[in-house]
Amino acid sequence: MKKNTRIIYCCQECGHQSPKWMGRCPECGAWDTLVEEKPPASDRHGKNDPSPHTAPVSIDSVTLDAEYRVLTGMQEFDRVLGGGIIDGSLVLIGGDPGIGKSTLILQVLNGLAQGPRSVLYISGEESVRQLKMRSQRLNTAASNMLVASEINIEIILSTVDSVKPDVLVIDSIQTMFSPDVASAPGSVSQVREATMKLMAMAKQSGVPVFLIGHVTKEGAIAGPRLMEHMVDTVLYFEGDQNHVFRILRAVKNRFGSTNEIGVFEMKEAGLAEVPNPSAVFLAERAENAAGSVVTACMEGSRPILVELQALISSAGFGTPRRTVLGLDHNRVSLLVAVMEKKLGLNMAGHDIFMNVAGGVKVSEPAVDLGIAAAVASSFLDRAIPDKMMLLGEVGLAGEVRGISRLEPRISEIRKMGFTRCIVPKSSLKAVAKMDGIELIGINRLGEMMDLLF
Ligand SMILES: Nc1ncnc2c1ncn2[C@@H]1O[C@H](COP(=O)(O)OP(=O)(O)O)[C@@H](O)[C@H]1O
Ligand SMILES: [Mg+2]
Repeated sequence: MKKNTRIIYCCQECGHQSPKWMGRCPECGAWDTLVEEKPPASDRHGKNDPSPHTAPVSIDSVTLDAEYRVLTGMQEFDRVLGGGIIDGSLVLIGGDPGIGKSTLILQVLNGLAQGPRSVLYISGEESVRQLKMRSQRLNTAASNMLVASEINIEIILSTVDSVKPDVLVIDSIQTMFSPDVASAPGSVSQVREATMKLMAMAKQSGVPVFLIGHVTKEGAIAGPRLMEHMVDTVLYFEGDQNHVFRILRAVKNRFGSTNEIGVFEMKEAGLAEVPNPSAVFLAERAENAAGSVVTACMEGSRPILVELQALISSAGFGTPRRTVLGLDHNRVSLLVAVMEKKLGLNMAGHDIFMNVAGGVKVSEPAVDLGIAAAVASSFLDRAIPDKMMLLGEVGLAGEVRGISRLEPRISEIRKMGFTRCIVPKSSLKAVAKMDGIELIGINRLGEMMDLLF
């Protein structure tokens, strides 16, 4: 009797459990995240354990079937997964509310259901009629797609057992509820329990499962961090609500490379794939505008050209403003300081605004030279030469440092019609000479100024 009424306090950030309430979680240090919960009624080592004890086998004797991947017909999605869906895999798709997770997965399922595969879409958020409405708008109504509105994980598992779908989608994992656990849906215990049960089902039956998860304001998937450890693959669907572009990014993948991205555009009729993002991000670029520079950043294995924009204007009163969107704020401040010191450009008393066109986020040091060129170009009010690009990392002494993966960047640059590219001299050796593009190697920031202005 006493055992059943025991209460535990569970951190909603990291899943740490404590017998008494505390203001601060001793595990992850988050404040006011411990919430009263009842532990699962089942005992841990007993009958409810999903995996029976398995005798170890020699790794030599394990036979492998050829790796079998199912293509969804959506190339951007398949690439992010590492080349298609693997049987029995558990994939978590996270993203802000309204970013288009349900839209994406509905289109993916539709691609699958066009073939002989049956897919099961379980929504805990929307009614079957709401799903139908979206599906009509997206023109994705295949008869092989089964939908249900349900939150009870036990009922879902028995539905899966009877329907035997080829792919299962749970939208969203935060709405799932297991009667074994006393706490409310969305709490750490519930999310963990539901994920565990779905994982056991996926591994046993080989049905691939997609979980949709919400992301908190801070960017973590709401619920326990440990959910990210339990699943095979974590994909983030991100983008700016005000921009039409959405980026699907793999942050963890047991079956493929991480940091692969897929680029989509949100349209009235759903998400459209963007096979050539560089062309899209450069489409509206103003020619010969001061402060605008094109550079190439790597997103996984793909180089993408982006336009960096800087605006330097003399400040009115008080402290000058430094506003940076899409780039690392500290990186920009550092480069501005280097330019003041090494190039003698006096930008104190000037407001500095920087932006990456199209709402893209760039965090690579390889774009340093591009940032410096954009700032100098706006400060001097002189456009940089036509068909010119810059790549390179800048150090505190004003030296231009080598960057990785120069060759794929250069081929993308050439494909987009640029004819000259300033690169670090040290990286120049690593690339073979290419027709149609002139590579200019530099060692110091000052040389860039001489070449550009
Ligand atoms: N009737 C509509 N016409 C055009 N776009 C719509 C319409 N309804 C929703 N959308 C788009 O779909 C997005 C919501 O997508 P959804 O897949 O429901 O997001 P999530 O599942 O991530 O919360 C909205 O932000 C909006 O951009
Ligand atoms: Mg949704």
